[in-house]
Amino acid sequence: MTDNEPPAPAASPALVLDGVRKRYGDKQAVDGISLTVERGEFFGVLGPNGAGKTTLVEIMEGLRRADAGSVSVLGSSPWPRNLALLPRMGVQTQTSAFFTRLTAREHLATVAALYGSDPAGVARTLALVGLSEQRNVRVDVLSGGQRQRLAIASALVHGPELIFLDEPTAALDPQARRALWQVLRALKSEGRTIVYTTHHLDEAEALCDRVAIIVAGRVVALDSPDRLVGAAQAPTRLLVPAGRLTVERARAFAGADRVTAEGGSVVIETRSAGPLLAALGADVGLDGIRTRTATLEDVYLELTGELAGTEQHA
Ligand SMILES: Nc1ncnc2c1ncn2[C@@H]1O[C@H](COP(=O)(O)OP(=O)(O)OP(=O)(O)O)[C@@H](O)[C@H]1O
Ligand SMILES: [Mg+2]
Repeated sequence: MTDNEPPAPAASPALVLDGVRKRYGDKQAVDGISLTVERGEFFGVLGPNGAGKTTLVEIMEGLRRADAGSVSVLGSSPWPRNLALLPRMGVQTQTSAFFTRLTAREHLATVAALYGSDPAGVARTLALVGLSEQRNVRVDVLSGGQRQRLAIASALVHGPELIFLDEPTAALDPQARRALWQVLRALKSEGRTIVYTTHHLDEAEALCDRVAIIVAGRVVALDSPDRLVGAAQAPTRLLVPAGRLTVERARAFAGADRVTAEGGSVVIETRSAGPLLAALGADVGLDGIRTRTATLEDVYLELTGELAGTEQHA
């Protein structure tokens, strides 16, 4: 190593969007979105139904053309259709198309062949998404969740470096959902970039390095789930079994910002959970008290509720 060596050129980010817009008739589906996704990042796109997530992701994938703004995918433009980019990207769309008369294995082998990728990937990918047993079942008789797994497999079979998944866990049962988390984490640990949409906010919180929350075609928040939750300063909720404490007594504790009765519990909202818990412990005992700290879902509901003009309770 010498001091005067020029620094190696940094690889371009996985995605760079600048001022991207897309209108359908008089509907402004994407209304000026700029963001960057680094290589190796796990990036979540969140937002209510109709917010523009699928439109945005399909613009990144080169499946739809932006009306305005610029899009760079792995350093090049995805539009007009960029054949060199295709094998480097894996795409699972929200409404996936299948070769329905083929078996699961034949379908995946066909996809692999279209990408010119190693046929050995087919059995490996079927196992990865838990479809080995169904490999000889025709696609049109797979269950909804099994089809979803096949759609995910179709996005992964050729080992792409940039993976787009549009609500991959929507139809999956809880075990399959957790199994997919493991698959996605393993793909990330191999250095791949993942961009995905979901309505499961617990999942986004567990998986994503950063999330963008989209409302009406605009980014209203973009950061790591931790920082979004921290910045929101949402209160912690302490749930005390109702027999142990009345609402009136709970209100007398320092730091009890708001107290309500819900189901079998007295619910105390607080921004100083530690001292309040200590005081409660000394008075009624900690046994049976549950705490619920703020989550990404709280932040999401606050942001999307406000901006959608939903009534908020004080
Ligand atoms: N091909 C199209 N033609 C006309 N309008 C469209 C088209 N595709 C989407 N839209 C409209 O654009 C808006 C954004 O749709 P989009 O599918 O991107 O939302 P989304 O955030 O993915 O929603 P969801 O969570 O329901 O999947 C919606 O109002 C939708 O009706
Ligand atoms: Mg969508």
